[in-house]
This record gives sequence, structure tokens and C-alpha cells, in this order.
Amino acid sequence: MTIALITGASSGIGTIYARRLAARGHGLVLVARAADRLNALADELRTAHDVPVEVLVADLTDAAQLERVADRLRADPPIDILVNNAGAGLAGGMAHADPAALESLLRLNALAPTLLTAAVLGGMLARGSGSIVNIASALALLPEYSHGIYAATKSYVMTMSQSLNAEVGDKGIYVQAVLPAATRTEIYDRMGGDISKVPDVMDVEDLVDAALIGFDRRELVTIPPVPDAESWTAFEHARMNLAQGFSNAEPAERYRR
Ligand SMILES: NC(=O)c1ccc[n+]([C@@H]2O[C@H](COP(=O)([O-])OP(=O)(O)OC[C@H]3O[C@@H](n4cnc5c(N)ncnc54)[C@H](OP(=O)(O)O)[C@@H]3O)[C@@H](O)[C@H]2O)c1
Repeated sequence: MTIALITGASSGIGTIYARRLAARGHGLVLVARAADRLNALADELRTAHDVPVEVLVADLTDAAQLERVADRLRADPPIDILVNNAGAGLAGGMAHADPAALESLLRLNALAPTLLTAAVLGGMLARGSGSIVNIASALALLPEYSHGIYAATKSYVMTMSQSLNAEVGDKGIYVQAVLPAATRTEIYDRMGGDISKVPDVMDVEDLVDAALIGFDRRELVTIPPVPDAESWTAFEHARMNLAQGFSNAEPAERYRR
């Protein structure tokens, strides 16, 4: 029996991951703040799929509660799949941002997936197997589209995934960054937005099913709505082409006068 720990399992993308992974026969650890929702989901999945489901109620912006989740990731029975999904948006730009809200978003969207990944990795490396799925966002590649720091937190998640894959991808650890675009979940309501004003919204079941096809294909970066896989390949070629210019001890000619 393999076990998946999913953060943000109480709604949206995390709930569908929980349903799909339970249907595949994985045991689960469900993490979020809403105990009632997590317990209802756990009951549903135990009954439907006869898998063990643990509930771990934690506010991931709180250091002590985050550490309890990290402790579970280091404990037995081992976690084979970590889905770093919990996240939130933040309305408004930088100019009038509440510093406490900025810190809280950084804790949830960037610090929590970082520390949870670090916590699970040692055991996975010792076993020579494991999967880490990080839910980033298409906004990681389109920061101009959203004010404030949300896109930056998601770029961080994507970059962390790419660095992690370079570090441990050949040691039996599979890393996936999923970049959803607009997806029908509670995230818009929670940040005071209106999803009816957002164009081209994907249903959350379609998003997760597509992400799991990317998972099964062992893709490093999965962007479910992009029709042409070649456009990602071309983007990566352009990035590597740019990077060839980094190996230069001298400033480029245009910066010498
Ligand atoms: N929906 C989209 O259009 C979209 C697009 C790109 C990326 N994403 C990303 O997808 C991920 C899932 O979001 P969603 O769209 O499914 O939104 P959602 O329905 O609002 O779900 C967010 C989940 O995160 C949990 N969460 C929020 N704050 C938390 C905290 N402080 N501690 C622990 N858990 C917390 C929530 O549970 P509790 O409230 O019970 O704690 C909930 O389970 C996020 O990382 C988001 O950035 C979403």
C-alpha cells in the first residue's frame, strides 16, 4: 500500500486529487484547516475505496502546525507521494498590500511546500523512490497578468520543482510541477473575486485528470490547457539558448560603453 499526503485536500483541486488517488488504491493523509470537510472526505473515501485515510488538521501558515505535517512526512508508514497543493490568492497589488497578508501568502504558497518537500525527501532518497507533485500556476509564466506576489510565489514553486528534479530526478524521485490556468474552485471566492468574470475556466475534475496523465507520463511540467506540447519544448529551447550566454566572464559588448 502506497500513501499520498495531500495538502489543501478540503476543497477544489486537492479534493479531486484525494478522490482520484484513493480510486487508484493509495492510502491518504489529508491536510487542511477545515476538520469537518476533511473528516467527511475521509469517510467517503474509506467507504468507496477501502483505503486507510488519516486526517491531519493544520494551518500551514503556522510554524508549529506546519512542523506537525513535516513530522508526519518523516514518520512511518512512509509517504510515497507528496502533493503540495494548498494555496491561496491575494487580491490587490503591492502598493497597498498588508505586510501580514504578504507574509501569510509567502508562508502558505512558498515556505510550506519547501519545508514539506525537505521533510519527505530524506526518506524517499533512502527508499530510492517517491513522487513530489507541486501545484504551481500558469501565472508563473505570465506574471504581468496578476498584481502583487501571487505569480511570484507560483514561479518559486515551479523553479523549486525544476531544481529539485535536477538534484534528485536520477535517484528514483519523480518531481512534477502542475501549472493550472483558471480552474473552477473556491479560490476566487476566498480572495473576494468573481469567477463568472473569468474567461475559459476549466472544470476541476478535468484539470486533475489531465495532471494525472502528465504524472503517469512522468512529465516535469504539466500545463493542462496548452493544446500544443511543442510550444513548451520551444520555450525550453529558447531558455537554454539564452542560458548559453551566461558562460561569459566579460560583460556583453553592449554594456561596455
Ligand atoms: N483554481 C485556479 O484557478 C488555480 C489556478 C492555478 C493554480 N491554482 C492553485 O491550486 C491550488 C489549490 O487551489 P484551489 O484552486 O483548489 O483552491 P481552493 O478550493 O480554495 O483550495 C485551497 C485549499 O488550500 C487549503 N488552505 C488554504 N489556506 C490554508 C492554510 N492556511 N493551511 C492549510 N491549508 C490551507 C484550503 O483548505 P482550508 O481552508 O480547509 O484550510 C483548501 O483545501 C493552490 O495552490 C492554487 O494556487 C489554482
